[in-house]
Amino acid sequence: MKAIRLNKPGGLEHLSLVEMDDPGDPGPGEIRVRLRASSLNFHDYGVVSGRMPTEDGRIPMSDGAGEVEAVGDGVSEFSVGDRVVSGFFPLWQAGEAAVADFRTTPGDGVDGYAREAVVRPASWFTHAPKGYSHAEAATLTTAGLTAWRALCVDGRLKAGDVVLTLGTGGVSIFAVQIAKAMGATVISTSSSDEKLERLKTLGADHVINYRTTEEWGRKVRELTGGRGADVVVEVGGPATLGQSITACRIAGHIALIGVLTGRSGEIPTAALMARQQRLQGLIVGSRRHQQDFVRALEATGLRPVIDRSFALGEIADAFRHEESGAHFGKICLEF
Ligand SMILES: NC(=O)c1ccc[n+]([C@@H]2O[C@H](COP(=O)([O-])OP(=O)(O)OC[C@H]3O[C@@H](n4cnc5c(N)ncnc54)[C@H](OP(=O)(O)O)[C@@H]3O)[C@@H](O)[C@H]2O)c1
Repeated sequence: MKAIRLNKPGGLEHLSLVEMDDPGDPGPGEIRVRLRASSLNFHDYGVVSGRMPTEDGRIPMSDGAGEVEAVGDGVSEFSVGDRVVSGFFPLWQAGEAAVADFRTTPGDGVDGYAREAVVRPASWFTHAPKGYSHAEAATLTTAGLTAWRALCVDGRLKAGDVVLTLGTGGVSIFAVQIAKAMGATVISTSSSDEKLERLKTLGADHVINYRTTEEWGRKVRELTGGRGADVVVEVGGPATLGQSITACRIAGHIALIGVLTGRSGEIPTAALMARQQRLQGLIVGSRRHQQDFVRALEATGLRPVIDRSFALGEIADAFRHEESGAHFGKICLEF
């Protein structure tokens, strides 16, 4: 079977398409999945670009979707032919956050899903939403679940709340869609006026160009009659958090998700304190969160926004496309 391996020291030129042994039959508690799609995340980019060093020969990609080809003894949750999607933290099944690193994350600490087949414990996968294509399902593992948890688990979103999203990457576009499906008002930013128009088509109620409106936090306050956003989906990090604090309402929730502008920096802590906001760091979610999310997707009919798909052997081109920032929503691999 075909797979992608990342050789040391990392970098897109060190990704290669290889033949590897078939994974064989599933043992007790395991399933064999014929993988059909994956999707790109900023985290995967960190791994393949060599910025987040990993083992030599690592199979990249955290997200994997496909169909069950065989089930091992004792597996009752899945049957042959079921469409499934992988989990980001395979060992965090439910309950409070139980991990703070990527040692168990496929495509980082362990081999991922840039390959045609895998045998893994059944608990490493959940069912995919009914009617989803494999590429659509593959967008859920990382970006989709992060947006779901930020808004609906940690952010306790309810109809009428105001949600602020930053930029038009995978997490943010999911956040726009989930927030609209939940009956929220959405304010979205982007660096591109063209993308702002697409955000409106997707349901964003107000849009702001963060390049031309540097004080976008104040603009969010203006748009909400001075109140601010109830939940901010913070994917930027140090260079955006100050504006996010300004944009968030008193006692509102900021979901601290991303590192698009770096990993550390100066934060106006006094403003956060004075506005009595909750700043909650999060990394994706548990298997239980993913099952709840899949149920919500089936109930709402929400479909992920896929910017473009590439073949497995075109993985480097797919990451170059992500690197360019030209995308809107998710970039997928289909194989
Ligand atoms: N904690 C977690 O669980 C978790 C999970 C998934 C992702 N993340 C993190 O979340 C971030 C986004 O991930 P992703 O996969 O959605 O990335 P992505 O698809 O590569 O998103 C890139 C987009 O981010 C926007 N952007 C870049 N700089 C920005 C800035 N200064 N202000 C506002 N928007 C900016 C741009 O949108 P425009 O072109 O519209 O300007 C760009 O197209 C990354 O830092 C990633 O590591 C964290």
